[in-house]
Amino acid sequence: MKSVTLDHVTKTFGAARGVEEVDIAIRPGEFFTFLGPSGCGKTTTLRMIAGFYYPTKGEIFFDNRKVTHLQPNKRNIGMVFQNYALFPHMTVFENIAFGLEVRKYPRQTIKEKVEKAQKLVHLDGYGNRKINELSGGQQQRVALARALVIEPDILLLDEPLSNLDAKLREETRLEIKRLQLELGVTTIYVTHDQTEAMSMSDRIMVMNEGVVQQVGTPSDIYNKPVNHFVASFIGESNILEGKIVERQGSTVAVKCGDHFILRGDLNHTATHIDAKNGDTVRLSIRPEAIIESDGHDAVEGEVYLVEFTGMSIHYVVKMGNQLVKVLVINKGGQTFKRGDRISLRFPEESIYFIPF
Ligand SMILES: Nc1ncnc2c1ncn2[C@@H]1O[C@H](COP(=O)(O)OP(=O)(O)OP(=O)(O)O)[C@@H](O)[C@H]1O
Ligand SMILES: [Mg+2]
Repeated sequence: MKSVTLDHVTKTFGAARGVEEVDIAIRPGEFFTFLGPSGCGKTTTLRMIAGFYYPTKGEIFFDNRKVTHLQPNKRNIGMVFQNYALFPHMTVFENIAFGLEVRKYPRQTIKEKVEKAQKLVHLDGYGNRKINELSGGQQQRVALARALVIEPDILLLDEPLSNLDAKLREETRLEIKRLQLELGVTTIYVTHDQTEAMSMSDRIMVMNEGVVQQVGTPSDIYNKPVNHFVASFIGESNILEGKIVERQGSTVAVKCGDHFILRGDLNHTATHIDAKNGDTVRLSIRPEAIIESDGHDAVEGEVYLVEFTGMSIHYVVKMGNQLVKVLVINKGGQTFKRGDRISLRFPEESIYFIPF
């Protein structure tokens, strides 16, 4: 178990930006995820940790050891590449053994270690199969075994599930998490899939266009997004803008659209928002946080769209000239249809202010 520190790491490719000023400290044994859209710099950052790219600026440390310009084979990392990069003409055994051969282990040790790794990923008995005789999921597990067999200090996984179908992806997600907990290895995981990131990670780094947006636990990232990008990239959200029409202490009433008024607490934000009466603010509230209610603090709207998914019902509700997404768990009771009036409560504690 080693910690991984990136100290103000920047990578440029000629005039093009790869990543800018990445400054993070990943703890020993942590499951840490880089999350962001295509081209945001996830692989570039991972490749610098692996040693396949050197930073243009900044330093990288494993524990206290500076590794910024160390060759990949001197770093004791295990890596699963975005496309697995297996040797198709070689057998499962030969693929997994590759890193050990390079390290010149004795034959018997190699045999024992490879068999142990095959067991770990549930591929015992597959040693003599050729890679091109395996399914996508099995190939993925060979790649994982190959990364783990060298007993790496740090495991780097670049979109390892992207070639699998939905069901296999879910199974393998659990499998990777199980292995990581069992081995306690510091793991850096790259994905553009927020469900994957949320369900597996201790902490997530959200990136966009080469710049780190937020680092935090899945719950921080989801419930306390620091900006518009994070709020809209992670899950569904209602991001609304409105004018403050009343302020008492940090509590404000915000008029969104023509008549719809929400109450929130300005301290409920990741940054500092100092707004006065008449100022425009931006806030976010998750569709599942909005509650159907006919209490005194409810606001009335008109159901505009209904989407039934089985487990839940998604409504788009017109609040004056403002559209709001609402998600209700299906408990088999009454459902609303287009044109119905609906009373909703927007709990103050679920309203989160976002800077412009
Ligand atoms: N070798 C390279 N030469 C020039 N530009 C590069 C190189 N590698 C990456 N880039 C650029 O750096 C940026 C980040 O790329 P990167 O591969 O890190 O993205 P990513 O987040 O891994 O995306 P994806 O989800 O599509 O894999 C992109 O704009 C890309 O075009
Ligand atoms: Mg990539």
